[in-house]
Amino acid sequence: MAENIIAIGLDNVVVAETDLSLVDGQNGLLVYRNHWARDLAIHHTFEEVAHLLWYGELPTEQQLNALKEKLKANRTLPAHVKAALDQIPADVDMMSVLRTGVSLLAEPTHAWPPTLEQVISLTAKMPTIVAYRQACLQGTEPLEPNSALDHTANYLYMLKGEIPHPAHVRALDAYLILTQEHGMNASTFAARVVASTRSDLISSITAAIGALKGPLHGGAPSEVTEMIEQIGTKENAEPWLRAKLEKGERLMGFGHRVYKTIDPRATALRVVASELSADDPWFDLATHVEQVGLKLLAEYKPNRKLNTNVEFFAAAVMRAVGLDDAIFTPTFAVSRVVGWSAHVLEQAANNRIIRPQSNYTGVMPE
Ligand code: CMC
Repeated sequence: MAENIIAIGLDNVVVAETDLSLVDGQNGLLVYRNHWARDLAIHHTFEEVAHLLWYGELPTEQQLNALKEKLKANRTLPAHVKAALDQIPADVDMMSVLRTGVSLLAEPTHAWPPTLEQVISLTAKMPTIVAYRQACLQGTEPLEPNSALDHTANYLYMLKGEIPHPAHVRALDAYLILTQEHGMNASTFAARVVASTRSDLISSITAAIGALKGPLHGGAPSEVTEMIEQIGTKENAEPWLRAKLEKGERLMGFGHRVYKTIDPRATALRVVASELSADDPWFDLATHVEQVGLKLLAEYKPNRKLNTNVEFFAAAVMRAVGLDDAIFTPTFAVSRVVGWSAHVLEQAANNRIIRPQSNYTGVMPE
């Protein structure tokens, strides 16, 4: 029998070939197709980068307009989805609501293989699910999508009930671009595993949302703001963080499986957040907590190369544009659905079922 390789956590295991992104953890580089992700975040928009990932190239003006129109035309939620969302108790968290809402978008015609039309329809509706739920929780009338606004501006509009400030749209767009795609992370892997069984797109994305929800993956940003709130003052940062590490607990917003240097998304988002938060004491405290956290991680976990990850400054950006903690991770999903769906299309184009093995450590029957 061939000897199996045991890789708990699938560390360093390659499970797919992809054209979509390169995550270079040693050098802190992130590439979407043949573009630096940080340049895309500065010079392009959500729709342009989605086009790059889905169609393989940045769009011409005509292609961009066509994609924008398709997204706008697909934003409205079917009545049965709204009715079902209305039944979910108020204390159910927003990621569970989003997972359920996406699941309700299944249609009989949406069998395998997945199509770009399905992908666009789903991407267009996810912001509406989040905004609809938030309005219901706040006791306000959910706003219909505004077809005069592009994807990110419309999301902010539906959440906040007013035409958003262009600086906020730009900042959130940068965040949504920088988190659209990131190699074989846990949620993308979950999506590809489901797609590899020839299940449908909605099932893949529902699985991905479940994986993203966990605090070791996409659930970290709200825990970052909670950490900053609990620390409260600069003087309290070192004793608070030290106490955490003494108990063997993890500091949220630090560390990464792949990046052994600074996460390039954190570098880019730090700039975006600082532009919006120049006089904000919260941001001043957050950057202090970052510095103390890095110092203590070097002390407690030498040789582990733990750095600030994307979630630390994702929290700062989303807070600066006025989003509630409860929708930080759902907003990550609103962005990452682009990458998930691009991976599902790629998996379907060259499919083989993903089926690893486990090592039986139990007792054999007599
Ligand atoms: N705080 C304290 N110690 C840490 C941290 C942290 N944030 N991250 C890793 N370590 C320690 C860990 O305890 C272990 O120590 P030891 O070997 O002494 O037991 C060592 O570093 C290696 O950890 P690991 O568990 O092998 O690392 P991993 O690659 O399995 O985990 C991670 C990566 C992101 C889950 C982890 O760094 C973590 O839990 N970070 C905090 C949560 C967080 O910020 N998550 C968002 C990740 S970025 C978004 C995304 O791309 O998903």
